[in-house]
Amino acid sequence: MFASRGVLVLGLLLLSAIGGRSESIPCKLRDASHGKVCVCTADYCDYLENPVLTDENEWYLISSSKQGLRFSTTSDKFGTEKKVTVQDYVEQVPEAANETIVSRLLDDVVASAFTLESRESSITRSVTLRLDRTKTHQKMVGFGGSYTGSVTYLVDNFKKSELGDHLYKSYYAEQGLGFNLMRVPIGGCDFDLEPWSYAEEEGNTLLSDMDELDERDVARVAQIRRLVEVSGVKNLLVKGTAWSAPPWMKTNNRWTGFGRLKKQYYQIWADYHLRWLKLMEDNGIPIWAISTGNEPLNGIFFMFFVKFMSMGWTPQTQAVFLNDYLGPAIRNSEFKDIILFGNDDQRFTFPTWFKMMNRTRPNSIDYLDGLAVHWYWDEIFGSSFIEQTTEYAPDKILIVSESCIGDKPWQAAAPLLGSWERAEKYARDYLLNLKLGFHGWIDWNICLDEGGGPNYVDNMWMPQSLSILQEFYKQPMFYAMGHFSKLVPEGSVRIDAVPSNVNLDSVAFLRPDNKIAAVLFNSGRADLDITLVDSVRGQFVVNVPAKSIHTLLYS
Ligand SMILES: *[C@@H]1O[C@H](CO)[C@@H](O)[C@H](O)[C@H]1NC(C)=O
Ligand SMILES: *[C@@H]1O[C@H](CO)[C@@H](O)[C@H](O)[C@H]1NC(C)=O
Repeated sequence: MFASRGVLVLGLLLLSAIGGRSESIPCKLRDASHGKVCVCTADYCDYLENPVLTDENEWYLISSSKQGLRFSTTSDKFGTEKKVTVQDYVEQVPEAANETIVSRLLDDVVASAFTLESRESSITRSVTLRLDRTKTHQKMVGFGGSYTGSVTYLVDNFKKSELGDHLYKSYYAEQGLGFNLMRVPIGGCDFDLEPWSYAEEEGNTLLSDMDELDERDVARVAQIRRLVEVSGVKNLLVKGTAWSAPPWMKTNNRWTGFGRLKKQYYQIWADYHLRWLKLMEDNGIPIWAISTGNEPLNGIFFMFFVKFMSMGWTPQTQAVFLNDYLGPAIRNSEFKDIILFGNDDQRFTFPTWFKMMNRTRPNSIDYLDGLAVHWYWDEIFGSSFIEQTTEYAPDKILIVSESCIGDKPWQAAAPLLGSWERAEKYARDYLLNLKLGFHGWIDWNICLDEGGGPNYVDNMWMPQSLSILQEFYKQPMFYAMGHFSKLVPEGSVRIDAVPSNVNLDSVAFLRPDNKIAAVLFNSGRADLDITLVDSVRGQFVVNVPAKSIHTLLYS
């Protein structure tokens, strides 16, 4: 969609402190317009080492809250009678004059007598959560973010390279969010300085410039290699997606609008993908997967709204392209094991898209290993779109391949600094989709500037010298994603997690190391006593604050 909110945004202020290399470092919390953010500079950024459990009865909890907890930790043991309380973040109040203290106390008394908010916070709700490791579901592929041209531009403009290293580690290191997936545009996308592709020269059917990386990809690849190096990510799975072919291959000879790939170029467009795979591999970034193209309906139905690079496909034309060109080209090449994702569009196109493809070319969807979907309309189009799809085409890898907030006319397009509500929106949709059987989730831009750019879409962004970016902010959304990704490595299997009432939302996994990781989300305005019952380990009670999200780990 045509606007996006990254999780990180960039600012221009300078702070400094000393950061250690491989130990936990707390968030440097700062008040922002809509809540609290964590500030990272070249010299300071928050990290959390992954827990090491010392015995089999130990449990360990990572917590974030609206009030200001950001990956704070609590641990105790199963089987003890006492309830453990996760203390919420408390604002440090500066020392005040005695008469001010008295009047503040009076205010509090009046407030607690009359306001619903503070009355609710004095209520404790309770829930029992039962985890059953014998009831298993999908095996996870992982979590990630996207490396667009806008990201490359911003990182290039960091004043010190250490800031970029912190950005990479914050997402992809184990002491960061432990991401392992990444989406990369093939050529340009909506988040770039301009539309672009390889082979732009009219009639370049030999793809003669594809024996080396475009300069924009030279920069991107160098950054991703640095990311791999400093984060230590072990098995980075990169998924490529093209937004559009060069205009001369298209029916409307433009980057955007009502335009499709001309039939006579189907084979060349398949070759283009193969050439890109080879280029990336030769330059040290082997590719894990590609999709059949970003949001194919943008060039068919939505061209009045979409002002960025797009190329239209119907299910019928895509079936022909996949079955007669792209599929055989890939499967008969040295890249035959690449994962092929279909659709890469909105949920409401599921499963009709695949049924229509298969009707046009029988068994064409057998070429697809996975189905990719963008999250933007999940609140409007219900779970049945996904359930019918998994019924129709089981055994496909299901991933959310794009998510951000700000795509709709009624949403603020610029990032809302510190918004906990947006973090909750993420948490709710992650929970929903993971419980529907999704194997992975790739968020959109890993960072953006404070205006939600740069991009060329609204023509509002002016190139300028920005080599003064000295800090970035981790939004609450960053931590919300981390509560799912950090302790749920590739290969984890979802297990049953059943809460006794609606006060808690949860999803749980059995990890490859046989430990259990569970996400616990209290979206209510009251604190919550959670009795966790594990079929093997027994139980314990923990009290968590209002508006908080947690990741639990135990053996
Ligand atoms: C508050 O009152 C106490 C007792 O009279 C006094 O010792 C203290 O210094 C006062 N604090 C301030 C900030 O004025
Ligand atoms: C796709 O089409 C073929 C041929 O009509 C059919 O046998 C197959 O079951 C279809 N696949 C699915 C998943 O419906």
